[in-house]
Amino acid sequence: MIILAIETSCDDTCVAVIKASGKKNPRFEILSNIVSSQVEIHKKWGGIYPALAKREHQKNLPIILKKVLKKTKIDLVAVTIGPGLEPCLWVGVNFAKSLSRKLNVPIIPVNHVEGHILVNFQFSIFNFQKLFPAVCLVVSGGHTQLILMKNFGSYQILGETRDDAAGECFDKVARILGLGYPGGPAIAAQARKLQTTNYKLQTKLPRPMLNQKNYDFSFSGLKTAVLYNYKKHSKEEMAKETQQAIIDVLLKKTIKAAKDYRAKTIILGGGVAANSELRKQFKLKIKNLKLKINFLVPSKQFCTDNAVMTGIAGYYNYLQGKTKKPAKIKAEANLRIS
Ligand code: KG4
Ligand code: ZN
Repeated sequence: MIILAIETSCDDTCVAVIKASGKKNPRFEILSNIVSSQVEIHKKWGGIYPALAKREHQKNLPIILKKVLKKTKIDLVAVTIGPGLEPCLWVGVNFAKSLSRKLNVPIIPVNHVEGHILVNFQFSIFNFQKLFPAVCLVVSGGHTQLILMKNFGSYQILGETRDDAAGECFDKVARILGLGYPGGPAIAAQARKLQTTNYKLQTKLPRPMLNQKNYDFSFSGLKTAVLYNYKKHSKEEMAKETQQAIIDVLLKKTIKAAKDYRAKTIILGGGVAANSELRKQFKLKIKNLKLKINFLVPSKQFCTDNAVMTGIAGYYNYLQGKTKKPAKIKAEANLRIS
């Protein structure tokens, strides 16, 4: 079947068309994948300005959809209903509803966080029996959650951030250091400048909640520590230490959860999972600890927001019979995975 997927939960207007087939072992082929980024617009504000993002989505969606619909016959519409910025979500949801009515095809609501997880199943190379339970770390600009995945559609949040998300911390620190938006790639680029040298860092930032026995996170103190210290050190140094502090906490808590729950797989997702150091250090840690565990992380383009993830999650939800009537679908800014 051909799925048209729409994702407008934050500042990217994303539309994808994917061909999905199979029940036990779903297969996906990406027919088109459009991410219309609003980065240049939001750069001026140093962050996302919801009213502006909504207006951009309203401007972008009809243009993108017109292009896509010309070429393809659609069988199912999938749309992100939450969590995310409410005005932005509504743009996608309303478009999906009217499309579903116009094309006379069913509609399937998708949880953005589940999308970040399930985009890992783009390629069906797995023996599903050996996959679960899995521990998923979803780290983005809006979310930092550790989730126990017992099966497709069966999730339990083990822990989450009590304040800022990991990506938000990257973004705020980048702003303090004058590195622009989005902060993650900018911080990573600064940190890389010190990689090849044997430079010994002169500063040590806190690793909030590192040794607490829960699976929660807190990143606002890290940003404050940068604010107090950044004038004494170079940008490269602050960037590298911020990145490492975030990685240390994410890595330790995820490994702890994986051990505690005897996970067979660790799954990463979300924009921060595009961070090369984070990916490298996860792989290394799993290898060094000799954990017999699968490690899944999407290719970088599918870590940050996209609609392929919405389409894939939509298909899994469709297989579980979660299709809804357009009238029943609404945006839910605070939607939680369960
Ligand atoms: O998943 P995403 O595209 O949007 C949300 O759902 O929030 O994630 C965006 C976040 C931003 O905070 C951005 O700074 C961060 O992901 N990010 C990164 C990298 N690329 C994007 N953080 C660290 N390193 C990166 N390479
Ligand atoms: Zn996201």
